[in-house]
Amino acid sequence: MTFPVVGVIGGGQLARMMAGPAVELGIELRVLAEGPDVSAVAAVAHSSIGDYRDLQTLRDFAAGVDVVTFDHEHVPGELLEQLAADGVSIQPSPSALLHAQDKLVMRRAVEDLGLPNPRWRAVRDAAGIEAFAVEAGWPVVLKTPRGGYDGKGVLVLQDAAGVAEAAAWFTGGDLLVEQFVPFSRELSVLVARRPSGESLAWPVVESIQVDSVCDEVIAPAPGLPAAIADAVTAAGLRIAERLGVTGVMAVELFETPGTGVGYLVNELAMRPHNSGHWTMDGSLTGQFEQHLRAVLDLPLGATDPVRQYAVMKNILGGPNTDIYAAYPPGMSSGPSAKVHFYGKDVRPGRKIGHVNALAAQGEPLEAVRARAAGVAGTLRDGTGMPSTDHA
Ligand SMILES: Nc1ncnc2c1ncn2[C@@H]1O[C@H](COP(=O)(O)OP(=O)(O)OP(=O)(O)O)[C@@H](O)[C@H]1O
Ligand SMILES: [Mg+2]
Repeated sequence: MTFPVVGVIGGGQLARMMAGPAVELGIELRVLAEGPDVSAVAAVAHSSIGDYRDLQTLRDFAAGVDVVTFDHEHVPGELLEQLAADGVSIQPSPSALLHAQDKLVMRRAVEDLGLPNPRWRAVRDAAGIEAFAVEAGWPVVLKTPRGGYDGKGVLVLQDAAGVAEAAAWFTGGDLLVEQFVPFSRELSVLVARRPSGESLAWPVVESIQVDSVCDEVIAPAPGLPAAIADAVTAAGLRIAERLGVTGVMAVELFETPGTGVGYLVNELAMRPHNSGHWTMDGSLTGQFEQHLRAVLDLPLGATDPVRQYAVMKNILGGPNTDIYAAYPPGMSSGPSAKVHFYGKDVRPGRKIGHVNALAAQGEPLEAVRARAAGVAGTLRDGTGMPSTDHA
């Protein structure tokens, strides 16, 4: 048996971050990239450029690899079904992936599994939204079932007058409308499952979004009651098993203390996820290594956290366009923080990297958060407040 080749469709930072673990394990990685300048191309020796919406391109790519997996969820399911019919090993399978591609399909599946959804309905017009809001109350959240990311495709409607804002969203197909959940915070559980069945979860984390974009992740979610942590972990593993998910999956959730079972499912992502970047430094097995193991049906790596807390702070494009020039002040302000940069040009608000910081023995969480934010802020701004490093 020679070493296998893993093909990743999509050349963003998630594909790029599989490159390190692939090298360590001696596994060849190939990427089907959207263009020559995307994040993964510089990190993956064998990248081809092509359109993931074109069947022949996908067939040519799949012909050279042992397993096909993904950096994003936008490959049309019909094309994946055709590849599967050709005999290509696609992980996760098109039928599992559908639940991360279509939020209406996902809501129905979560309901069928007996897990807690926000109140929701499929609607086609303004009257449908208003009828739903009469029952669920304003505000409501309107979502395009497919193609959304980073809050694109999500619209909060405050009242009946606000529904006019949604006029352009009605194009004949079903939309998803949900109650606006008054959550206390957002949680995420990351699990990995291999085709032969073994699955493992990482500790449940808190994820903090700013303007619908992930900003910070705290692992584990501080002060989370054990009963909620256990229920959420069981939910993640159950979803993975029952939907036949393979590879890494994130379940995004809302914590709702005092109502229902204390949490609601928001959505699923079937690939490594921003809420799991902390695992690269904070867990015995990082999510990118685990994804490779899982899609190859290798035994999964232990998911134990290595310290009491890990904090991940995203670096979004800001005033500083010369990130490397800010490495010296950033790195000296937090020598124990780990910098991850995606090799992307800086554009305002774009995810260009992240910083992981781990708690030293007995170190308060707030100090760990400050260290991660200090280093990330220095890289983003080019200056920034020096932070003290106790680790
Ligand atoms: N029903 C809801 N009630 C309250 N807030 C919500 C609701 N649905 C979504 N949100 C908020 O909007 C954010 C984005 O929603 P969602 O995760 O569905 O969209 P997305 O664009 O697919 O996100 P992602 O970037 O994770 O792919 C959520 O993280 C949450 O902060
Ligand atoms: Mg989301």
